[in-house]
Amino acid sequence: MTGVETQGAARALTVGVVREDAADEARVALVPDGVARVAGAGCEVLVEHGAGASAFYPDDAYERAGARLMSRDELLAVADVVLFVGGPAPATVERLRPGQVVVGMLRPLVDPGLADDLARRGVTAYSLDGLPRTLSRAQPMDALSSQASIAGYKAALVAAYELGRYFPMLITAAGTARPTEVLVLGAGVAGLQAIGTAKRLGAVVRGYDVRPEAREQILSLGAKYLELKSVAAAEGEGGYARSLSADEQRAQQEELNAHIASHDVVITTAQVPGRRPPLLVTETAVRSMRPGSVIVDMAASDLGGNVELSRPGERVLTDGGVTIVGAGNLASTMASGASAAYSHNISALLLHLVRDGAVVVDQEDEIQAGVLVTHDGTVVHPGTAALLAGVAATKEGAR
Ligand code: NAI
Repeated sequence: MTGVETQGAARALTVGVVREDAADEARVALVPDGVARVAGAGCEVLVEHGAGASAFYPDDAYERAGARLMSRDELLAVADVVLFVGGPAPATVERLRPGQVVVGMLRPLVDPGLADDLARRGVTAYSLDGLPRTLSRAQPMDALSSQASIAGYKAALVAAYELGRYFPMLITAAGTARPTEVLVLGAGVAGLQAIGTAKRLGAVVRGYDVRPEAREQILSLGAKYLELKSVAAAEGEGGYARSLSADEQRAQQEELNAHIASHDVVITTAQVPGRRPPLLVTETAVRSMRPGSVIVDMAASDLGGNVELSRPGERVLTDGGVTIVGAGNLASTMASGASAAYSHNISALLLHLVRDGAVVVDQEDEIQAGVLVTHDGTVVHPGTAALLAGVAATKEGAR
């Protein structure tokens, strides 16, 4: 165990909240309600001017909660711990001090270069997305779930907004509207929330997942379970799905094609940790959908998504009249609620890390073993370290 001590025995550990670096990020890591919670652990909370503005948490609300407002320069110079939603941009990393602690959703398996840069700066970095989520004492810290739940809810609303007809069945003097048929592919945290939201809006909803336990969860929301004969159960490690073989993928796509054609809305949420998202909706399937249909691809990314024609953060209208929304950062579009939930998660982790006024690095602790990414100038997260070693070996081989 090693401690990140506060400088000067009488001074409280200072925890800074900055305005996020990413242009599409409206969330803030700690909301005013979280200030007292963090202060209760013997910390002083510092907030960059305007840090919560885009999530509708004004500076004076932080001040009333007991935080000290200051400029970004001052905050980065004095804070012992800096809280983020996403990772710091390269220019911010350059301004961090050795020994400073950073906590955020750093996605080290997707962006190992950031972990490398933080290690070189001598920063101790924790990433909430490495949390052992099935551990019950870690659940208050589960930011992946809280943010996926918000994103899943919003995905159903985006689909309803884009669709040119009612979700529920309505019998009116102007005629009867049949209910919209919604198919949700991938029923993890986001998918189940999308299913529940589409059901509450009155649609007829079907859900599908490769993990067998998802069946009961889909049915418990009042939705129907889509059974595929071509794909065997595909649960992997840690409660996640495993990657399908090329043959399994092809069989899955072919069987899904027919089902996709009969739905008005398809929401895709399928992910396999550390892998490119599986392709579930092929171009052939998109072409088979009726004009006016809507697809929301929550897995859309620069690596590709669940839908062949989706582009992250973009809305595409195909020649066949199908609208495809590459979802982008949906949690950020509900910044107030998403920040409140994230603030709860990150403050729970912080309270776990702080003992007697210092962040205590303890790699024997099961939670810390998952979330600690860099310490003492080294990338200590095994998966990230392995990725970086692979990148270095490839560069070496190319010389
Ligand atoms: P995720 O974001 O990694 O993936 C979303 C969904 O896509 C998963 O349900 C996965 O099974 C599904 N999927 C992957 N490949 C697929 C394919 N080819 N076809 C169809 N579906 C596919 O997963 P998420 O939402 O982060 O978590 C997944 C599960 O992990 C949860 O539903 C739960 O069982 C478990 N978990 C448990 C927690 C706990 O015990 N407290 C907390 C969080 C998650």
